[in-house]
Amino acid sequence: MPSLARLLGSLGLVFVAACSSKGASNAPATDAGVDSSCDPGAAVPAYVRSPGAEVSFPSGFLFGTATAGMQIEKGLVHADWYQWAKLPGKVAGGDNPDDGPDALAHIPEHVAAMQSAGATAYRFSIEWSRIYPTLDAFDADTPDATALASYHQLLAALKAAKIRPFVTLHHFATPDYLDDITQPSQPQTFERPEMLTMFPEFARRMAKEFGGEVDDWVTINEPMILLLGAYVAQGHPPGAPMSFDRMVGALKKLVRVHAAVYDALHAADTIDAGSGRPVAVSIAKHNRVFFPRDACEPNDVAAAAKATYLWNEWIYNALVFGDWDDDFDGVYTGPNDKQADPTLKGRVDWLGVNYYGDTLVSSELALPYIGGIPTYADLPTSLPKTDMSWDIFPQGFRTVLKELAKYKLPVYVTENGIGDSQDVNKSRYLAEHLWELAHAISDDGVDVRGYFYWSLIDNFEWANGFCPRFGLYAVDRASASKTLTPYKAATLFRQIAADGKLSAATIDALPAYSSPVICQGP
Ligand code: FCB
Repeated sequence: MPSLARLLGSLGLVFVAACSSKGASNAPATDAGVDSSCDPGAAVPAYVRSPGAEVSFPSGFLFGTATAGMQIEKGLVHADWYQWAKLPGKVAGGDNPDDGPDALAHIPEHVAAMQSAGATAYRFSIEWSRIYPTLDAFDADTPDATALASYHQLLAALKAAKIRPFVTLHHFATPDYLDDITQPSQPQTFERPEMLTMFPEFARRMAKEFGGEVDDWVTINEPMILLLGAYVAQGHPPGAPMSFDRMVGALKKLVRVHAAVYDALHAADTIDAGSGRPVAVSIAKHNRVFFPRDACEPNDVAAAAKATYLWNEWIYNALVFGDWDDDFDGVYTGPNDKQADPTLKGRVDWLGVNYYGDTLVSSELALPYIGGIPTYADLPTSLPKTDMSWDIFPQGFRTVLKELAKYKLPVYVTENGIGDSQDVNKSRYLAEHLWELAHAISDDGVDVRGYFYWSLIDNFEWANGFCPRFGLYAVDRASASKTLTPYKAATLFRQIAADGKLSAATIDALPAYSSPVICQGP
């Protein structure tokens, strides 16, 4: 029997069906039928690159990098994540975010690094708990002047460098007055009714303050990862006792909060800061490719298809079409289901997608809603691995992008990247993913407008601390100047961004993947 052998890891929530001896098969879960050619012993195949000698990117395509405040800023003492990181056993090695890149003290160097890498866009977060450290400050609307000045400084430097900002308003960290980590059994964060008014109010104020400098907003980063970590896997604050009901309850509320934040941003940001329209809003949605662990096992196939629907589609179905599947059963026949609900429909202007790889789903442990258990680290496949022990699976990137075509909206890849401390796999990873992205545009008709590499710099990787190195630049964290040193991938990024194209020969010239140095969780 499998077990929930490891609940913490990588993104703070990794399910590992540790005792299963089954092999994995390579039929992606697109429907609940069993692949008649299934091969229960087959491993997920090695990468087969989409064909062609060269790909090119549309004119105006954005080549960006991404970060988040909690992962690069110092002194976010009023954030739940800051306090959570101080609890024993929550972060590998007891790493402290304050020992990271101290980004707000090094804005010129970071923007210069973006320029050196040829980047034309930057996704970062404006941290709510830095702007309003206390509930009193929020209620009185007395924002921290230093915090406002820092973000204005960053935005001015980006503008001078002709780098377009994409601003995230909630990237995993919540002010402690909305998430009390000492009370994990009580409603926290998106479960709390006040989120429905306070988050839109925060967004309204940020749009008024920064709308003249920002057109592109991300409301919430990776809702599913956030909530799974908070209410099931205990890898994110408040680390509640495992409850799928709390998780789905929070998810339903989060979607409503997003819609209200969307409306607030649209009402308050009326200035075109240079993109051609004043405001465009989305979510950074973490999507994956789900495979049945055994393609000959109907329950695995069904569970993988269900996971695809729940994880990749449920939120965007609600926010694009207004289709609300209250009971998560995949059809709109339940008593609280609704289609084309005007209070939800059209609440994203583009689709944000974060892509990191594939997941195997086994029915040997039937978790609620899914009917199986998803696993996405240490997979028994022959694919090369990252330092997070995630599969490197570039063709899944194309699959995930293709799935978004049905929404008929522009797509921005808000994150994609690799933890690679040895700097041996990053360039190939980058090139192969950009290759597949270009094919999603040219062959699958997906309107992808930009790509944000995660991350600009090595940073605090949540429960994994500083071990995983996702940056285009290494940070000398011990030095006062926090000196940046480019990885080889920064040069390749610059070359592809400057050329607007990428050849198969360039990829072929890169070294083959080599073994990672796996980061251990807490
Ligand atoms: C994503 C998170 C981001 C970073 C990368 C590696 O899930 O959004 O903050 O941790 O993973």
